[in-house]
Amino acid sequence: MRVAIMGAGKVGGGLGAALAAVGHEVVFGVRDPESDKTRAAIASCPGARATSFGEALDGADVIAFALRWDAAAAAIQGFPSLSGRIVIDAMNRFDGDPTRSTTQDLADRLPGAKLAKAFNSIGFENLTTARARLVPAAMFVAGDDPDAKRVAMDLAAQIGFVPEDAGGLANAKPLELMVRVWLALAQTHGRRVGFAISPN
Ligand SMILES: NC(=O)c1ccc[n+]([C@@H]2O[C@H](COP(=O)([O-])OP(=O)(O)OC[C@H]3O[C@@H](n4cnc5c(N)ncnc54)[C@H](OP(=O)(O)O)[C@@H]3O)[C@@H](O)[C@H]2O)c1
Repeated sequence: MRVAIMGAGKVGGGLGAALAAVGHEVVFGVRDPESDKTRAAIASCPGARATSFGEALDGADVIAFALRWDAAAAAIQGFPSLSGRIVIDAMNRFDGDPTRSTTQDLADRLPGAKLAKAFNSIGFENLTTARARLVPAAMFVAGDDPDAKRVAMDLAAQIGFVPEDAGGLANAKPLELMVRVWLALAQTHGRRVGFAISPN
């Protein structure tokens, strides 16, 4: 798959490296393809390239958001319609309306896009190390679109997580809040800590 990742920072770069390592083509959408941050992301991501936000959309099978919300909101103003396109939201936001997730706001601003929340509930370091864990970590995926959820869950499994269906779009906000729990756990266990499900 060709995956366009909006943002080449800690999460964008980590997700890109993990997806490239399992054979996906990664294109970073960034404001400055020549920045040190972007160059570092490309260096750890075999075959990847970086271009503008708009150009990164061309031909992408999946579009993932790994920006701060304010940067994402500004970037999507110039986007063509993403109706019918798979969009994965890895962002978190702790200011603004506490009842609204970035995923819900993307849904409002990208009518017809197929949205899922994923890759947001754990520290970025873990995106590239999931396959090496002694106990596999869960990756929670939420959204109302079954196609987007299936793609997000497949990608999560490919990079080494146990994908967990966390329900509909309304649960995207609780998934953002899970990062606060993860940060608290990281204080005692370190940033390699992950969530796991005990099914019974
Ligand atoms: N860090 C984590 O462990 C973690 C975990 C889960 C979710 N998240 C979420 O993931 C998202 C990204 O976090 P991050 O830690 O990856 O951030 P980051 O390392 O600071 O990277 C942010 C990316 O956004 C770009 N950017 C920043 N301001 C911009 C602007 N005004 N306009 C256009 N592009 C801009 C940066 O590009 P430049 O190089 O041009 O600055 C960079 O590519 C956030 O929503 C965060 O809450 C983070």
